[in-house]
Amino acid sequence: MKVLIGTRNPHKLAECLRILGEIPGIEWVTFRESPFPEVPEEGESLEENAAKKAQELARLTGLPTLAEDSGLEVAALGGAPGVRSARFAGDQKDYRANNEKLLSLLSGVEDRRARFRTVAALALPDGRLWLREGGLEGEIARALRGTGGFGYDPLFIPIGEARTLAEMSPEEKDAISHRRRALERMRPLLLALASGGIPEEGGPL
Ligand code: IMP
Repeated sequence: MKVLIGTRNPHKLAECLRILGEIPGIEWVTFRESPFPEVPEEGESLEENAAKKAQELARLTGLPTLAEDSGLEVAALGGAPGVRSARFAGDQKDYRANNEKLLSLLSGVEDRRARFRTVAALALPDGRLWLREGGLEGEIARALRGTGGFGYDPLFIPIGEARTLAEMSPEEKDAISHRRRALERMRPLLLALASGGIPEEGGPL
């Protein structure tokens, strides 16, 4: 069975494909084989955006679609940038500008607690939807460090770590990431989908 991974962000796509790996009975389809338009992220929550992306793309392509929306929630900023993480410093979605804005807002702030959150959504062309979430707790560094990963990775130090996510190897980030945790909780549903026995929605997020 073909399942579309509904992201056009090449960093996210690479992470999703690495984390999901081979699932018996599923052939992953990406925007490279089946180009699709950008779905505007206008919702008020990660859940809303992830659901909209997955449902619109499933309807458009006729394929079961796995999508996700992620955000960084900073305690001292009341949970911002959250659902607005991509456009924190403006519509150009510039990672460097976003990181610089975050550093400047936290300049002199002692409470650096933050967490990443991913909401993964699986939708079928008939509109049925399943959501699962994963989080990663940590803190915001005082300067950018590392060249791996993407987005806020150079500023995010997971709890119990000394390095930022951008200083870790892809495998090290994958082992603990918010995306990993959300997708692992989605895996049983994907296995069930592939074998024709997916449960009704309504399970725990
Ligand atoms: P979206 O899910 O496409 O809306 O992405 C939100 C933004 O969150 C991205 O543009 C990145 O800046 C940031 N982001 C999402 N996931 C990660 C991650 O794994 N590491 C670092 N930043 C991330």
